[in-house]
Amino acid sequence: MTTAAGNEIEQQKRAAAEAAAQLVEDGARVGLGTGTTVAYLLPALAARRLRLRCVATSPRTEAIARELGLAVEPFTALDELDIAIDGADQIAPDGWLVKGGGGAHLREKIVAAAARRFVVIASADKPVARLRPPVPLELAAFGLAATLRELADARLREAASSPDGGVLADLHTSFEAPQELVARLDAIPGVLAHGLFPPALVTDVLIAGPAGVEHRRPGLH
Ligand code: 5RP
Repeated sequence: MTTAAGNEIEQQKRAAAEAAAQLVEDGARVGLGTGTTVAYLLPALAARRLRLRCVATSPRTEAIARELGLAVEPFTALDELDIAIDGADQIAPDGWLVKGGGGAHLREKIVAAAARRFVVIASADKPVARLRPPVPLELAAFGLAATLRELADARLREAASSPDGGVLADLHTSFEAPQELVARLDAIPGVLAHGLFPPALVTDVLIAGPAGVEHRRPGLH
């Protein structure tokens, strides 16, 4: 990628993140995602000086958010969030997502599912005609060899365990319909989480491009 193209992508990430920050209301309980696009969200949110209760999907996000003065609490007492905002690796036209490039997909999915509104923020390189591998996985360390036997095309990441002790991997199996792969993965007990997020989780997608920020609403709730 040329420097000019790279700069354009960074500007798009910032534009999507700043648009999402405007959707947050004073007093909201907010889920903070993980990644380079969310890195633009955090200062934009902090600059609004709202009274917020935030939960973070990774130690990285938590540290940056705290440094910016956002109030982050453990995700134990809150039983619902008003809004969660996060990036994505791939966005299909029907609203299916692949997430987990940063290895935070277990916590990201828990936070998205707890949010009344889940807003995805992305640059123009994230929409795809159809989802493709790899699909990020988080696997239980217990019985790892047996789980990997079921997942012939999974490759372990050279990365530390997740904050919840899970082993990070990527599944390189090609697939047609995401829901069929979801059914297969959900049937393997050692798969703690996968990076396929269904449209029913997603209420808003903000995609920034040369012409501005496009606002899609694929969600069913
Ligand atoms: C982390 C994620 C990220 O949201 C996803 O990988 C997109 O990251 P970025 O904004 O850096 O492109 O799912 O687990």
